[in-house]
Amino acid sequence: MIKTQLAAASVVGKVLAGASLTEVLTHLWRADPALSKQEKGAIQDFSYGVLRFYGQLEAILNRLLKKPLHHKNLAHLLLVSLYQLRYSKAQPYAIVDQAVSASRHLAGGKGMQGLVNAVLRNFIRYQESIVVQAAAEDFGRYSHPRWWVDKLRQQYPHHFQAILEASNQRPPMTLRVNQRKIPLADYRKLLAENAIQARWLGSNTLQLEQPLAVELLPGFTKGWVSVQDAGAQLAAPFLDVKDGMRVLDACAAPGGKSMHLLESANVLLTILDNDSSRLEQVRQNLERLQLTAEHLVCGDAAKTSDWWDGRYYDRILADVPCSASGVVRRHPDIKWLRREGDLIKFAKTQQSILNALWQILNKNGKLLYVTCSIFTEENALQIEKFLESHLDACLLPLTEEALDDGQLLPNIQHDGFFYALLQKN
Ligand SMILES: C[S@@+](CC[C@H](N)C(=O)[O-])C[C@H]1O[C@@H](n2cnc3c(N)ncnc32)[C@H](O)[C@@H]1O
Repeated sequence: MIKTQLAAASVVGKVLAGASLTEVLTHLWRADPALSKQEKGAIQDFSYGVLRFYGQLEAILNRLLKKPLHHKNLAHLLLVSLYQLRYSKAQPYAIVDQAVSASRHLAGGKGMQGLVNAVLRNFIRYQESIVVQAAAEDFGRYSHPRWWVDKLRQQYPHHFQAILEASNQRPPMTLRVNQRKIPLADYRKLLAENAIQARWLGSNTLQLEQPLAVELLPGFTKGWVSVQDAGAQLAAPFLDVKDGMRVLDACAAPGGKSMHLLESANVLLTILDNDSSRLEQVRQNLERLQLTAEHLVCGDAAKTSDWWDGRYYDRILADVPCSASGVVRRHPDIKWLRREGDLIKFAKTQQSILNALWQILNKNGKLLYVTCSIFTEENALQIEKFLESHLDACLLPLTEEALDDGQLLPNIQHDGFFYALLQKN
């Protein structure tokens, strides 16, 4: 436990200094191959948990300290311990003892045991009132950066609290059953036979009661099923692909939506992404699902002259790079890594990708613009601007009734996405 607390504290420190959580954890697994499955699970739980509730835990810590703590590693260890005390089922005094021992292993941590002990024991003693005090300000209440809360409050005056709360939940695990391989009813029967509880969310979408390792899913290696959020599973049906169409997935990796398109119809699909290592994941997905794309290209969607073969597309999926503010419950580091100014940069990139792709879309063809963002700068405002400057474009209604303005807000069932279906006249 001491080892996992220390490792998680170090992971949190690296993320708060600007690194991506996935990359830090991947690096740690490689650097320490002796870590057991349980240890990895604990490190993952502690670091995701601290980042999910960082605002709250930091506000709690500030209330428990008599003066600011300049020893950053120790502060991160305390955040991990506070997370455990508030959100785990472990025995409180065992957590405190381990944190006290762990602090001895930190450089400069000697002589800090008294402080660690006092802070954590005071939390146990006054937990409920301290948690209430910590919620007095937005940062402690919602565990999101202040600029983020302010922006959501301004853009969604009636929904911002629900959005923030949904973004702090643990995400569900959702499956897409491959209709080319197995009927939905048969797959549901298989899950039941394996004592895996799942709920049907419509179409080929099943949500598991409890997340589990993909290897435990029946037929996963045979391509019968993929893991994909329910909100992301709307893309392929919205794009309305038919056999024989030429389709471009312009920002495709790791390929979740590409695979869904290929499962839906016999299309001639060009898969494009500007990141060659992420394209490797697309290749693996194609292999597992036994699907074939016409072309797999590494290139910049905004520079079509570098890779376009001159044949227009009937359908284009533009799942553009974005703030990822709609998928924070899966990636809680995002909210601490983003800066408000990033939105302008994303919006510029999105605009240049959209403008370039529009030129290679067939007449009467459809382009589906997608982000996993909840900020209007990347979504409704972006499309408004596009329609003003492209008189040959019209916005089509989406088939999902609840999505009349294209903005899917995160909730228990799905992540946050934005969809705009454009047709070329
Ligand atoms: C939101 S992710 C796509 C997720 C994917 N559609 C799926 O469903 O699995 C955005 C992708 O766009 C790629 N990307 C970013 N800028 C790009 C550009 N200028 N041209 C092409 N791909 C780009 C990134 O490498 C990333 O893989």
